[in-house]
Amino acid sequence: NTKIWRALEPGGRERAIAEAARMLRDGGIVAFPTETVYGLGADAADTAAVERIFAAKGRPADNPLIVHIADTGQLDALVLPYGELASRLMERFWPGPLTLVLPVRPGAVSPRVTAGLDTVALRMPHHDLALRLIAEAGRPIAAPSANSSGRPSPTEAAHVIDDLNGRIDGIVDGGPTGVGVESTVVEIAGPGSVRILRPGGVTAEQLRETADEVLLDPALGLGLPSVSLQPGEEPSASWRENEAAEAAHGAPRSPGMKYAHYAPRGVMELVQGEPSAVRAYILEAVEEARRRGERTGVLTYEERAAGYDADAVIVCGSLARLETAARRLYGSLREFDARGIDRIWAEACPQTGIGLALLNRLAKAAAHRIVRV
Ligand code: TXA
Ligand code: MG
Repeated sequence: NTKIWRALEPGGRERAIAEAARMLRDGGIVAFPTETVYGLGADAADTAAVERIFAAKGRPADNPLIVHIADTGQLDALVLPYGELASRLMERFWPGPLTLVLPVRPGAVSPRVTAGLDTVALRMPHHDLALRLIAEAGRPIAAPSANSSGRPSPTEAAHVIDDLNGRIDGIVDGGPTGVGVESTVVEIAGPGSVRILRPGGVTAEQLRETADEVLLDPALGLGLPSVSLQPGEEPSASWRENEAAEAAHGAPRSPGMKYAHYAPRGVMELVQGEPSAVRAYILEAVEEARRRGERTGVLTYEERAAGYDADAVIVCGSLARLETAARRLYGSLREFDARGIDRIWAEACPQTGIGLALLNRLAKAAAHRIVRV
């Protein structure tokens, strides 16, 4: 039985914080909002509680969790001494959607949290309810996104309820999240240098203002010609090439990035190219699929939505303000499911700013079926 607190209702907030914090202290697993997506939290030192997170989500055991803190005073107990760049990044971006991978202090968190690595991923969310809850629990909270493994991350309490109701102890409903895609995960690559392991709410451009060099983990696969399909080509060939590319570059340094992820139930293709060519390709693909009797969907932007004739044409936001598209991306993917869509075509967006994270999630939702037209 899952307890649901409506924190936005009058008087709901303080009660939610007090009761959910007690549940976390008692070894429970509780979903709560952050500025990015909803997280599913547990006491990071409590192996039994952390194991329940993996079980509830159906998450592979080799995928480590992010540990959430409310106060930099919690850091020294968690990590070994870190360099000057890490401190500057914390100062600049915390609280906020940046996760830092740092050397873990042995024994500080459950080995299930780090999946046996000698590093731990840490972040301080920019969300008052989350910070209050973590502070009230009085301990670092391990929390992956509060979705079933492989499903789009939850940006509203209703998404958490759809995926996990009955499988977790509680859900704090604090309304929709703001950023809409997960935090940016980085490691320190050298003096002055950071490597992005997962693009997210803090952009590469923003990181570059604090670091001398910003590297992208090549295993992200973004922009790799090896994951590009010819129009109409099936993805199996691309998978093999993608695997070969990964072998060449080494496995992704963020274990979670190797899993097919964020996916709607329908088969999705990401279409990249000149706007008019993209439209022509999608129009024809939709028509063909409809002739085969499939329910079709198009994921697009305000500026591009006119003229599509699919069963579901979903506008996730504006190309001029990609933040709006990031905010609604996961909700849009879930909407295709709710409308029973079998085949989805998503228009690519530019790779700048939050667009890098958006494109990364779209590519993953499409299981790397990327068509360049
Ligand atoms: O915005 C977010 O980061 C959300 C909210 C809830 O905070 N959390 C989130 O957690 O997205 P999750 O578990 O869905 O993703 C964590 C990512 C995974 O890709 C995982 O592999 C990576 O962080 N990660 C965790 N620990 C790591 C480590 N020690 N080294 C490298 N990558 C790590
Ligand atoms: Mg996740």
